[in-house]
Amino acid sequence: MTEITNKIYYVGVNDRNKNLFEGLWPLPNGVSYNAYLIDDEKVCLIDTVEVDFFTQFIENIREVIGDRKIDYLVVNHMEPDHSGSLALLKKYYPEIQIVGNKKTFGMIQGFYGIEEDGIEVKNGDSIELGAHTLNFVLTPMVHWPETMVTLETTSHVLFSGDAFGCFGALNGGVIDSQINCDGFWLEMVRYYSNIVGKYGTPVQNALKKLEGVQLDYICATHGPVWHDYINKVVDIYDRLSRYEAEEGLVICYGTMYGNTERMAEVIARAASQAGVKNVVLYNVSKTHHSYILRDVFRYRGLIVGAPTYNTGLYHEMDVLLSEIANRDMKGRLFGWFGSYGWAGKAVEKIGEWNEQRLHFEPVGTPVEMKQSLTPEVKAQCEELGRAMAEKLCGK
Ligand code: FEO
Repeated sequence: MTEITNKIYYVGVNDRNKNLFEGLWPLPNGVSYNAYLIDDEKVCLIDTVEVDFFTQFIENIREVIGDRKIDYLVVNHMEPDHSGSLALLKKYYPEIQIVGNKKTFGMIQGFYGIEEDGIEVKNGDSIELGAHTLNFVLTPMVHWPETMVTLETTSHVLFSGDAFGCFGALNGGVIDSQINCDGFWLEMVRYYSNIVGKYGTPVQNALKKLEGVQLDYICATHGPVWHDYINKVVDIYDRLSRYEAEEGLVICYGTMYGNTERMAEVIARAASQAGVKNVVLYNVSKTHHSYILRDVFRYRGLIVGAPTYNTGLYHEMDVLLSEIANRDMKGRLFGWFGSYGWAGKAVEKIGEWNEQRLHFEPVGTPVEMKQSLTPEVKAQCEELGRAMAEKLCGK
């Protein structure tokens, strides 16, 4: 097992089998469920792993402590990808004392039917393990109500739960200094936008609580242990939770026969010619919403378009707009377009989405096309692309 520092060990597992995290989000590179073990006078486990991996998890633990007992299990987060092994672990280690906050224990009862007489901690409480001291910081709604983080104050290690986590299994190395991290940065943005994205304000509150705290290692529940890149990952989470974006444009469209797609291509070319360097186009029916959400978090401009379908909005676009709206994003520039064969509705519906749920700054004039791209409609699309470019580039 990898020793992170000073008898703090990684005992997590990799999941390369699951296709969709939470049944929703693709895992092309897998995901890790990280847990940590502190080998001290009192042995302390920080979080568990998804129950499918329990056998591997126990082997990892025994590789570090052999037949010794575990004194404490700190539960930073109750979502079952981390608490899933809790009930089985209690059978292997019946004397283990569970450490959580007031909200944790109700969830343990609810999920696992365990009436736990554990150690209930409040914000700022500490537990001594011997050479290590754990300090608990409550961080509610990052992204569940019971979430907390645990700071080991001797070695300056933060056990951060899902915060600072990312998609991607660990291919041998565990600590960022042991591995090439290039593949993790976009996966961190995708993870944040998909899983945590709605909770920008609680993430900001959590970051404020950790301000000024010396951190030498951040041990999240997914992805690498951060050591060399601590400043970078804190900065990524800080910017994302403030909904700060780069200059760039996401154009996302639905299309049945390619006509609406042609509008998107014209808009993209006009925006590019007017100076926007980061332009990404997605067919909403082809690219999973997970990746589109990621880029809506990355870039400040968003233009969406879709055909009218069953006298309403093309279903896939409806779903995407709902997912964006559910994340309470701020500070985006928004343009839209649409098409119809015999009765126009899509443009009106997208406008309603923005007025009622998204509340983004409208840019340019929405373009509505009947049946196919005429020179007039093409000019309107070019105008929409240029209007967005002017806003984005400040020209
Ligand atoms: Fe990785 Fe919120 O569970």
